[in-house]
Amino acid sequence: MPKSKSRKSVKAPARSAAYATPAKAWQARIGDAVDPLAEKFVESLSFDYRLAEHDIRGSLAHAEMLCTTGMISAADLAAIGKGLNSILDDIRAGTFEFDVKQEDIHMAVEAALIQRVGDPGRKLHTARSRNDQVALDIRLWCVAAIDRVDQLLTELQQAFVTLARQDGGNVMPAYTHLQRAQPILFGHELLAYVEMFQRDRDRLADCRDRTNISPLGSGAVGGSTLPIDRQQVARQLGMNGITANSLDSISDRDFVVEFAFALSMIAMHLSRWAEQWILYSSTEFDFIRIADQFTTGSSMMPQKRNPDMLELIRGRTGGVYGQLVALLTMLKGQPLAYNRDMQEDKRWLFAGFDSVELSLQIAAPMVKSATLKPQSIARRIDEG
Ligand code: ARG
Repeated sequence: MPKSKSRKSVKAPARSAAYATPAKAWQARIGDAVDPLAEKFVESLSFDYRLAEHDIRGSLAHAEMLCTTGMISAADLAAIGKGLNSILDDIRAGTFEFDVKQEDIHMAVEAALIQRVGDPGRKLHTARSRNDQVALDIRLWCVAAIDRVDQLLTELQQAFVTLARQDGGNVMPAYTHLQRAQPILFGHELLAYVEMFQRDRDRLADCRDRTNISPLGSGAVGGSTLPIDRQQVARQLGMNGITANSLDSISDRDFVVEFAFALSMIAMHLSRWAEQWILYSSTEFDFIRIADQFTTGSSMMPQKRNPDMLELIRGRTGGVYGQLVALLTMLKGQPLAYNRDMQEDKRWLFAGFDSVELSLQIAAPMVKSATLKPQSIARRIDEG
């Protein structure tokens, strides 16, 4: 038998067995991904749905750029825009059904878009990979989250200033080693916290500058050969510029770690204030009265007013540090460029943000509603 003929006869059955149908080939390629447990294991939609608004904003900017550069038609852009905006409306209204069969938010939005507008929806993926898409989405999410934390910190600073205006003129002991040291004004102590939170705000502003830069156009890892305009996308998204190296852009999560560190520092400052006021509101000190709504009673000892909210602010600090360590360790030793490890960044980022947001939200009204107990403080000063 001639050699070429024998090769042919061996190849044909092998091909039909291994690649019988496109669906089978797909199954073979991604293997266990069709197994329900494996599907559950790899999915991120259950937490990255929180990127939805930013994913859509990014896609709208990308689509517009594809149209300006002539890669899609004006009609395609109109269809994509209409589809994405209708998805956004549904998400905001709480009526969008996230398809759990989709692995992540990027695929869920894309699938919904194709379902709503058909073929033009498929073109959105031109010159873009989920790798640069997710990097952009997290950056946009972080910028919004930084702004939210900054706003809450400002409100907390204002609460301290309000209390200082009201009660700040009272004299109280200042402590070193928790021993009475020198007399100071209560306002002096309150403004110490304003300083701490100001440094936190400065840190956030600095981190925001490094975060608000567009990685889009980096593609899966090596960029794109298509005539994209990265600056246009960045401008449209109100970003400060574009990243320089595609490998780095895809795998850079430094800004997430920086934000996590800023959150940890805020949590630490909050815990110091919480501890101070836990002491001050105790019967032993009796310097401050925390408003009723921020204390809890004890059924057995109704005279008690426990500072549970302050204790929880203090207690949750550990969780916030935990997310910082989790993020650093998740990134440690990763080879360039994208690895699936990085999917975990959002889990810790969101958890740290949620915890600090909640603590800040409750801290400001707690400060504003607290009252000083000057007589009790005066007694203590006399003793000293
Ligand atoms: N869900 C993924 C993540 O959060 C999106 C990127 C997936 N990219 C990939 N090559 N599998 O990281």
